[in-house]
Amino acid sequence: MQNVQDYISKNKERFLDELIQLLRIPSVSADSAFSQDVIDTSEAVRTALENAGCDTVEICETDGYPIVYGEKIIDPALPTVLVYGHYDVQPADPINLWNSPPFEPVIKKTDTHPEGAIFARGACDDKGQMYMHVKALEFMVKTNQLPCNVKFMIEGEEEVGSNNLAVFVANNHKKLANDIILISDTGMIANDVPSITTGLRGLSYVEVEVTGPNRDLHSGLYGGAVANPINALTKMIASLHDENNHITIPGFYDKVEDLSQEERAEMAKAPFSLDAYQKALNITSVDGEKGYSTNERNSIRPTLDVNGIWGGYTGEGAKTVIASKAYAKISMRLVPNQDWQDITQLFKTHFESIAPKGVTVKVTPHHGGQGYVTPIDTIGYKAASKAYEITFGKKPIPQRSGGSIPIVALFEKELNSKTILMGFGLDSDAIHSPNEHFGVWNYLKGIETIPYFYHHFTEMSK
Ligand code: BES
Ligand code: MN
Ligand code: MN
Repeated sequence: MQNVQDYISKNKERFLDELIQLLRIPSVSADSAFSQDVIDTSEAVRTALENAGCDTVEICETDGYPIVYGEKIIDPALPTVLVYGHYDVQPADPINLWNSPPFEPVIKKTDTHPEGAIFARGACDDKGQMYMHVKALEFMVKTNQLPCNVKFMIEGEEEVGSNNLAVFVANNHKKLANDIILISDTGMIANDVPSITTGLRGLSYVEVEVTGPNRDLHSGLYGGAVANPINALTKMIASLHDENNHITIPGFYDKVEDLSQEERAEMAKAPFSLDAYQKALNITSVDGEKGYSTNERNSIRPTLDVNGIWGGYTGEGAKTVIASKAYAKISMRLVPNQDWQDITQLFKTHFESIAPKGVTVKVTPHHGGQGYVTPIDTIGYKAASKAYEITFGKKPIPQRSGGSIPIVALFEKELNSKTILMGFGLDSDAIHSPNEHFGVWNYLKGIETIPYFYHHFTEMSK
């Protein structure tokens, strides 16, 4: 690859400025107050793809936010890479925990990013990582080094479940036909320990509502005599794990695939410091399913977590009251073979069955998706591995991630192609949290690595 480092150092400031402009638009897909901003962001992505050298770019309307589709077909006989990413972001709240406003990006140095990191909502997830692909395309087109065809599909509803993208994919098999799907929306172990994500967990996300008496009650007059929905809910939630932190829902583990001792031994080789992990989170101990390491707990094992819980009086001071209702939002991270709809049904049946006398329970499924594992003996993986070897000077480690990108399993089913997850974020980049950031070094390293993937993938496809 000619001059990729040269090209990056000459254009570094512009690459950063362009990303910063994109990060200024608050494209929060979950909150309708930002709907115009989400639409404006799709326009900005369209312009960026046009400027980078796509031949055609379209805004594809859906029942929700638009999908930006762009392509450059240089020769139908050559392989085609389909790049997927998302331009929507998570809500920024709690805003008061940000050290600088979430949509006014600033570059600051950190311990893990001595060369600086861009602080903004979406910096790492996923605008920064998506934009690496746009700039890598610009480099390949401007220097006449694009070796194959490329298609971009950038959506605006990943953070809310990608429901409309699923419809779009099902209706556009031909348009989206490709030889490999390339995504940068995950992480790697460390800047000096490159890794390629080989797995994603599935997800089932539900909301529960527990109802007791028909109105809020005085906790002195009625307390102890009627079921308290908050007491009931917390007891029910507590019973979902046993003393070994196994999930107690009957049938929950039925389809879970146990990894062989060899596979687990291979996983354990990835560098990991429990001490550094605990220090970074300011905790004195880790916790999780008995019999598994931290890295196993957060990748190859399914989990259940309360993501939010509310009810009763939470304002200033004290109010003596028994609330009529209590609520919680619960996520279950799943592993390949566990079907998310089956698990949602198992949860619903079980949760309803453990309701104590005097309350009723309603379970509402939100969204979900299947997990994914990608093999490492394909030319896609090998080409990615070579690319990292060149730009990082080290062979990357294959690693399964705990996060979810539900659409990836669907891509395989609908488009019949494998996905390569080239993530350049770090776990410490605080995605979905206050002070999300993305290392400047990581951003530029991604732009540098991607063209080598195209090159090797095209060569290996011959
Ligand atoms: N990019 C993340 C997923 C991710 C991050 C995977 C880091 C692996 C490593 C994605 O935007 C995300 O947040 N997904 C959601 C699920 C989605 C249905 C809202 C998640 O994992 O919670
Ligand atoms: Mn993402
Ligand atoms: Mn996300």
